[in-house]
Amino acid sequence: MHKVKIGVLVSGGGTNLQALMDACENGEISGEVVLVISNREGVYALERAEKMNIRNKYLDPKKFPGEAYDKELLRNLKEEGVELVVLAGYLRVLSPLFIEEFRNRIINIHPSLIPDFCGKGFYGERVHKAVLESGVKKTGATVHLVDEGTDTGPILMQESVPVLMDDTVETIQKRVLEVEHKILVKAVGDCCIRIDNENIGGNDETSVD
Ligand code: GRF
Repeated sequence: MHKVKIGVLVSGGGTNLQALMDACENGEISGEVVLVISNREGVYALERAEKMNIRNKYLDPKKFPGEAYDKELLRNLKEEGVELVVLAGYLRVLSPLFIEEFRNRIINIHPSLIPDFCGKGFYGERVHKAVLESGVKKTGATVHLVDEGTDTGPILMQESVPVLMDDTVETIQKRVLEVEHKILVKAVGDCCIRIDNENIGGNDETSVD
């Protein structure tokens, strides 16, 4: 069975990356993580990839100013034959050029129930801080396809968790991360099946010709 080649972009600790690599390894996802790229040097996500013998690299934004960065990203991903790009805690906005190249094949995980607590400035702990301050009784995580907006693409999956009276940013983050891992694996798995079907459809057309 064909395994969809997945490229993962990261900026931090990489617990979502770990969940994906584990799910590929144990056959839960019919895909394989073939490349991990970070825009931040020395992050633990790169070490996680290294430990799993997965090609990984730090791409320095200073060396590739402006659009050159995404062009370099694309070059690396294409070189590895990547078919699906996952943003797993990637704290950099993708250019329209990049999004066009991987249209409907870029997945992002966001630590809130979109359309709440998302968009410009809502990333990392800031999301959970805003949730706490607002007094809402539930939050959660969302997996969505990436389009040109910030956290605006079609939603693939969501799951909520309660916000408890004595919660802190840390306790909410921990509770949300657990569902992030779960729904990211599920959504990426579904997406791999879709890509596989598209590939099969494409091959049929070729054989008719
Ligand atoms: C997650 O909360 C993710 O939703 C957000 O950044 C965090 C990254 O966590 N975008 P990790 O690097 O996967 O551990």
